[in-house]
Amino acid sequence: MNRSDLQQRQASVRQVFEQRFGSAPTLWCRAPGRVDLMGSHTDYNLGHVLTMPIGFDTWIAARPRAGRLVRLHTMNLDAENSFSLEALAPDSGHRWSNYLRGVAQVLQAEGLETAGFDGVIHSTVPIGSGLSSSAALECAAATVFEALGGWRLEPARKALLCQRAENQFVGVNCGILDQYTSCAGEQDCALLLDCRDLSSRRVRLPASLQVVICDTRSKRELAGSEYGRRRAQCEAGARQLGLQALRDITVEQFRQRAPELPAEVARRCRFIVEENERVLQLAAALEAADFGAIGRLTAESFQGACSLYEIGAPAMDAMMRAMTAAPGVVGARQAGAGFGGCMVAFVEASRVAAFAAAVGEAYFAATQVRPEVHPVAAAAGAGLLALDLPASASGTGKPAGPAF
Ligand code: GLA
Repeated sequence: MNRSDLQQRQASVRQVFEQRFGSAPTLWCRAPGRVDLMGSHTDYNLGHVLTMPIGFDTWIAARPRAGRLVRLHTMNLDAENSFSLEALAPDSGHRWSNYLRGVAQVLQAEGLETAGFDGVIHSTVPIGSGLSSSAALECAAATVFEALGGWRLEPARKALLCQRAENQFVGVNCGILDQYTSCAGEQDCALLLDCRDLSSRRVRLPASLQVVICDTRSKRELAGSEYGRRRAQCEAGARQLGLQALRDITVEQFRQRAPELPAEVARRCRFIVEENERVLQLAAALEAADFGAIGRLTAESFQGACSLYEIGAPAMDAMMRAMTAAPGVVGARQAGAGFGGCMVAFVEASRVAAFAAAVGEAYFAATQVRPEVHPVAAAAGAGLLALDLPASASGTGKPAGPAF
């Protein structure tokens, strides 16, 4: 989004806020979605992931209010919900609000002060397509509570607390990848994340390469139940091999010990062990602009995801064919949890338009579904939104922008 699009977005959020709550918001927070460049399901195996926060993000415009009530409106769903910070329980009728309720509860359990506010939520992260719309909402909510409470969390701790909200309150047993990327991401670089010690280092992508997200727009129906099964199989495999996590074995060692495991568990574990090594190899290949290695590693990742980890889907096969046949492609693979949703390609920057057109045509011809194709760049992690809307665009005549 360029500056004028951002200003338009801010003006429309402000307008909705004024309609709902009678005056302008005083605090603007945002948190990004993410795309993983390599490392499917390695996070809960305490391995590595190469991840990138993206320009699609979730905004919360807020204004503190006296008392313990949080009043919310989501523009994406055109829905309202309120809850008291004194009685935090999940609301099955407004599941989107559970991300905020859960974050509030976890922060309170840590002894952090939470304050009531009015808030309008607006997200450009496509919901449920594997780009971490849930984490973006949690991390934006934590940023609001942080600003209103007058305390600060280190990005890794903030990510852990948001993950705990999702695990314990929302009930999804995800790893740390999404929340870490949303909280700790940095503009203009990918992160090589170590999910054991939660350290990360910046990885610069070659200027001649563009990351392009290709959304199959197929529903990820199996993602919930199958995700839990994959996780349980990995944990069982690690236990049987006497390891704390699958992170603790090399590809070579695993090859020798695989026969100790039941066949299906061995296939799942093999994928994770190999994928974990591919993460480090892809980071090195990107830094060396080694296009041949990028193509080989991404192809192996997709192959393993389908045949070993079995998180593929017919729509993903069709998208992989479309991406790998398109002009300018250097490498392509799955993204997120798999089972449909978004995929990711590395494309020669000068050929992105031709790539997008070809993917659109080929995928439509194969599926009768028009895909979404989004070139993306690395965006900053969760924080206050630093925008200064000109007075004329707000319609109120008052200067706008963040409170601090
Ligand atoms: C989902 C989860 C993450 C991670 C990925 C797969 O996005 O939320 O924790 O496990 O799937 O890599």
